[in-house]
Amino acid sequence: MRISIFVFIMKEPIAELLSKYPVNRKEGLLPILQEMQREYGFLPEELLGEVGRHLNLPVNKIFAVAAFYDYFRFKPQGHHHIQICRGTACHLAGSSTYLNELEKHLKVKAGSTSRDRKFSLELMNCMGACESAPVLRINETFYHHVTPEDLTRIIRSIKDKTD
Ligand code: FES
Repeated sequence: MRISIFVFIMKEPIAELLSKYPVNRKEGLLPILQEMQREYGFLPEELLGEVGRHLNLPVNKIFAVAAFYDYFRFKPQGHHHIQICRGTACHLAGSSTYLNELEKHLKVKAGSTSRDRKFSLELMNCMGACESAPVLRINETFYHHVTPEDLTRIIRSIKDKTD
């Protein structure tokens, strides 16, 4: 029931979005997916069929293309989307402990979004800043050389913002 209401709400914007792209032109796939990601914050699975019908592409092909890019997500993110680096340098600098702390205090498991949609937690491979390990990103803000004290402050701060 919840999903069908969600799809009903989304159908109108997707029709409008698709109307900007020519029918059956497969080169429109990436721009459409990018626009969907911007519009909804993720790629709602229920709407990818609409994209497939518009471009005359099978949904599994659309999935395969989208899954190739880290940029695309298939689940809604939390208000605070937390990415924690699990690359070697960050792992050695304690990111596993930080992950446990985040899961415990925010009540969200790695790779998922909390029920209230306040937090989502994503594990990343190297985020390209190994010299600043351990690295954490929350929405658009990067945190470098995160110490346990920093993490406590960060958790308190984002919890305060959502209470
Ligand atoms: S291993 Fe974390 S930024 Fe490279």
